[in-house]
Amino acid sequence: MSPPSQDTSAMVMDDKSFATLSALAKAEAGLVLPVGKMTMVQSRLRKRLIASGQPDYPSYCRLVSSPEGLEERRQMISALTTNVSHFFRESHHFDILRDKVVPELLRKTRAGQKIRIWSAGCSSGQEPYSIGMCLLSAAPELASKDLLILGTDIDPAILEKAEAATYSGQQVTGIPEAMRKTYMEPAGGDQYRVGPAVRKLVRFRELNLLRDWPMKGQFDAIFCRNVVIYFDSDTQATLWPRFRQRLTGDGWIFLGHSERISDAALPLFEPTGMTAYRVAGSVPPTARKD
Ligand SMILES: C[S@@+](CC[C@H](N)C(=O)[O-])C[C@H]1O[C@@H](n2cnc3c(N)ncnc32)[C@H](O)[C@@H]1O
Repeated sequence: MSPPSQDTSAMVMDDKSFATLSALAKAEAGLVLPVGKMTMVQSRLRKRLIASGQPDYPSYCRLVSSPEGLEERRQMISALTTNVSHFFRESHHFDILRDKVVPELLRKTRAGQKIRIWSAGCSSGQEPYSIGMCLLSAAPELASKDLLILGTDIDPAILEKAEAATYSGQQVTGIPEAMRKTYMEPAGGDQYRVGPAVRKLVRFRELNLLRDWPMKGQFDAIFCRNVVIYFDSDTQATLWPRFRQRLTGDGWIFLGHSERISDAALPLFEPTGMTAYRVAGSVPPTARKD
């Protein structure tokens, strides 16, 4: 029997619906979706249109704009976020972590201080797990210290993958071999799971960077990489002072390769390497990179 015929013209997004949905994505999550992304938005939301039982995009817009559409709005944002991530992405940051940050963290733990690291926009978990592997392999004694890595993301679906900590053989090729042998375990077929030593360092929470940040305390380092690239410069500008407030006086912040702290916020930070910054005033003059 042939499947019932579908009115495919209803699945085509009209300009007004695109304008409504892109304004909503901006207001909810900071995502900038110019007209050139209309085809991408349409293809990512087609499944949501069907799953939510809406006959066409104008009806879908009414749903996600209504108070009853709260859950579908979350699903819509989840569908519109780009979650690409890799283990040890932009590996130069992990070199800095190993060579410069770890010795400082060790000094702090020996002075009885706790260590907190935040992966903001952690996607499917490769970033916080890479941080954990890097720290433990550089300084195994950190395993017994008060060390936590917080991974947050706006997308609850991707956080479930992060919690599962299970990746394909292809995905784990980015982990240096010695670390792969030490910190990953077979999980059946072509799947590998992050082992307990690293998993126990990492906690995941849903968090929208545009809203309140409920965590108390400050972070020794924040990784917010390949996230603000989806925001406009005004939205980015609101984040830099907030990140500064959440960093310890000598804290580090790492951004993605095409992201920069805006000029207005630069007095709060000092460039310390490729898209790596420290809180202003914490870098000895000899170590500055302008
Ligand atoms: C391209 S991934 C980057 C993952 C990782 N940081 C990396 O560099 O590999 C961007 C992540 O930012 C998240 N994101 C987008 N807008 C966000 C927001 N307003 N608040 C929190 N996370 C957001 C997305 O859900 C996505 O998982």
